Amino acid sequence: MNKILSRERVHSEAIMLEVKSPRIAESYRPGQFIILRIHERGERIPLTVADVDMDEGSISLIFQEVGKSTKELASLGGGDELRDLLGPLGRPSEIRDYGTVACVGGGIGAAPIYPIAKALHDEGNRVVSILGARCDELLFWRERIERVSDSLHVTTDDGSCGRKGFVTDQLRDLIDDGLEVNRVVAIGPLVMMSAVSELTREYGIETVVSLNPVMVDGTGMCGSCRVTVNGETRFACVDGPEFNAHEVDFNELFHRHGFYLREEECSLKRYLERCGK
Ligand SMILES: Cc1cc2nc3c(=O)[nH]c(=O)nc-3n(C[C@H](O)[C@H](O)[C@H](O)COP(=O)(O)OP(=O)(O)OC[C@H]3O[C@@H](n4cnc5c(N)ncnc54)[C@H](O)[C@@H]3O)c2cc1C
Ligand code: FES
Repeated sequence: MNKILSRERVHSEAIMLEVKSPRIAESYRPGQFIILRIHERGERIPLTVADVDMDEGSISLIFQEVGKSTKELASLGGGDELRDLLGPLGRPSEIRDYGTVACVGGGIGAAPIYPIAKALHDEGNRVVSILGARCDELLFWRERIERVSDSLHVTTDDGSCGRKGFVTDQLRDLIDDGLEVNRVVAIGPLVMMSAVSELTREYGIETVVSLNPVMVDGTGMCGSCRVTVNGETRFACVDGPEFNAHEVDFNELFHRHGFYLREEECSLKRYLERCGK
């Protein structure tokens, strides 16, 4: 069993769990994820490893409460145990000395962008980070990301912190003001990754996005996470989750995104009724 060492609320919609797993902590590389099950009959939940603590032999997971399984996960606390913890899964991020890399994290994407920014920084890149959220309250890990960045820019949709607007507005301004960006890594909501991709295509800047289609087995067998990249079918769990943004068929991803909406709503409703909420 995989013991939860601590639970912390990072903002009103997200929780961080630190889970004991010396094996994953040791073999994990930035960009990889795990799949967990809370109990025997639990759904499989893929989550990116946001940080590791080698001394504790633990991994940190940050997740947004969006539906039945993540709400159930949020109800656990320090001392509870997870039935299964599978990983590390997926291909690690490509970490090389590119020159200047813009690391763009939208919403919960700040969690997965952190270990990548840190690794790129350690490799000698100039890391320019951009964090965006709907409002000030939903921003997290600013200091942590700032520590591994040469500069940090913050945007909020409502202007309650940093620049009012989207991460793409900030990225465009930086480039137009003369910043030579050699590579962009963007992680966040699909609509944000698609917008970053459109922008950097204009400027011809190599861009990587981390895709999160629905995953079930995480081994390339079930086909549920298939995405079209450069006209070919790829499985995000084993071929990704990172892909060249300019080759991703975002329209197909938008279309597939709502496939299970009805089932997800029913499942959440049943769960909340059972909990008396
Ligand atoms: C590689 C990968 C890494 C991820 N990392 C994170 C992370 O670090 N933090 C975080 O908050 N979220 C992350 N997600 C998304 C997270 O897995 C889903 O939010 C979660 O599974 C939702 O389950 P639910 O039952 O609470 O919601 P549901 O009501 O079942 O679904 C809500 C939405 O979540 C998504 N979702 C549902 N089931 C899955 C599934 N099995 N696989 C992927 N997406 C699903 C769908 O878009 C769906 O519309 C990641 C997903 C992938 C594929
Ligand atoms: S999750 Fe089954 S093939 Fe990727």
